[in-house]
Amino acid sequence: STAPADWDKPLEGKVAIVTGAARGIGATIAEVLSRDGAHVICADIPAAGDALSETANKVGGTSLALDVTAPDAADKLAEHVLERHSGGADIIVHNAGITRDKTLANMDEGRWNMVIGVNLLAPQKITESLVAKGALKEGGRVIDVSSIAGIAGNRGQTNYGTSKAGVIGLVEASAPVLAEKNITINAVAPGFIETAMTAAIPFATREAGRRMSSLLQGGQTVDVAETVAYFANPASNAVTGQVVRVCGQSLL
Ligand code: NAI
Repeated sequence: STAPADWDKPLEGKVAIVTGAARGIGATIAEVLSRDGAHVICADIPAAGDALSETANKVGGTSLALDVTAPDAADKLAEHVLERHSGGADIIVHNAGITRDKTLANMDEGRWNMVIGVNLLAPQKITESLVAKGALKEGGRVIDVSSIAGIAGNRGQTNYGTSKAGVIGLVEASAPVLAEKNITINAVAPGFIETAMTAAIPFATREAGRRMSSLLQGGQTVDVAETVAYFANPASNAVTGQVVRVCGQSLL
């Protein structure tokens, strides 16, 4: 149609999966997608405990204990989805992410593998597997969470920055392939957002992160979540392979 749509609940009847939904950005993404009408499957590691069921209850969704790096993660997720929702899910948000920061000289292989495993390999494997199993519908949406650290770099985060730069490559390379099933794939690249992840950063680095924004305030989880919601919304039907920075800053 050429006419603008009049949506109240643009995601009514849609099923969305959000990984790392127990807290932080993921919990807010679950809230925003639910507000827009989606049924949200909230996934997080077993250690997330009550926080995960709290998010799921808050958004009227379901919770799933899932370590995205487990060898059977994709199978488990596909099974969970297909048992409950015929035809599979409509939206997956790969939000689960970790940091294991160290200066370059002290950056060991364990930290590399762990961060690359959660942030880059898991989103790729899970997307590929859900599509292969028919657990992500044609016309579906894949939304990845990159980071400004994957574009501009960040001291002490060679592993993290590499994983998040990899996510951008993944989105760009996957877009034409997924388009064969009319599935879009896009990413958000948040800057400094106030969450437990950034609260753990040493004070000086944290303050430098906050100052990176050229807008007056630092980002909140909802700023990222609303951008994710745009990529889930029919309003972005013709948008794929894109990365939107939610960092309050122009890098030009
Ligand atoms: P957070 O640490 O508050 O939450 C991350 C969630 O992911 C936690 O609930 C955690 O249990 C879960 N998680 C970790 N490993 C997992 C695994 N193997 N399987 C399933 N779940 C797992 O972090 P925050 O700040 O909410 O970050 C969310 C995403 O946004 C991450 O991908 C992060 O890299 C990204 N990001 C965050 C920024 C920030 O400033 N907070 C900036 C740029 C990107």
